[in-house]
Amino acid sequence: MKLISPSLLSADFGNLQRDIEMLNHSEADWLHVDVMDGLFVPNISFGQPVVKHIKRHARKPLDVHLMIMDPGRYVADFREAGADILTVHYEACTHLDRTLHAIRDAGMKCGVVLNPHSPVSLLEDIVQVCDLVLLMSVNPGFGGQKFIENTYSKVRQLRQLLDRKNPQCLIEIDGGVNCQNAPALYEAGADVLVAGNAVFKSDDPQSAIRSIKGL
Ligand code: DX5
Ligand code: ZN
Repeated sequence: MKLISPSLLSADFGNLQRDIEMLNHSEADWLHVDVMDGLFVPNISFGQPVVKHIKRHARKPLDVHLMIMDPGRYVADFREAGADILTVHYEACTHLDRTLHAIRDAGMKCGVVLNPHSPVSLLEDIVQVCDLVLLMSVNPGFGGQKFIENTYSKVRQLRQLLDRKNPQCLIEIDGGVNCQNAPALYEAGADVLVAGNAVFKSDDPQSAIRSIKGL
């Protein structure tokens, strides 16, 4: 699968509705929504009230990436705000299995996120419960950072693990994705690419989306 989930973190927050409309009319598949608490990551972005407004205008699934400590506390809130897919960090959950089941039970697709320092082998006993796994290809917290090259080998390792344990599970990559590295990422086995700066800082975001997808 070759999907793209543009990250609204790089959108113009003063013109969020305009940027969401642009994505509605583009080849984007999902809208990536980055929630940060200033504790799990050094930055603070926005919370449920803003997600609710995004939902009101978006005509594509909301792919909500929680960069917050103990995300299990907010599963119901983000469902209520309109999340369709909810991903939580391995590094931020004490009871990951419970949290993933709670996300599913609330009616959303669930996913685990791994920071760049976390090996794929950590997922051996949890991928059965995941609809997707998100590999961070930068240290989370900010848009516009440089892609970490080691990600390609992690995608290949993850694909092998999923072939054994959960072939339906999707692989998503987040951080420093652009039209130069996108083909190799899809080739390595990625299904969904998140792109913030590569889309919103481009002169023509809709054609950037098409070229990342290889259209
Ligand atoms: C970073 C966020 C990303 C970010 C990606 O912590 O999780 O989703 O918006 O931005 P780019 O594509 O600019 O690296
Ligand atoms: Zn993200």
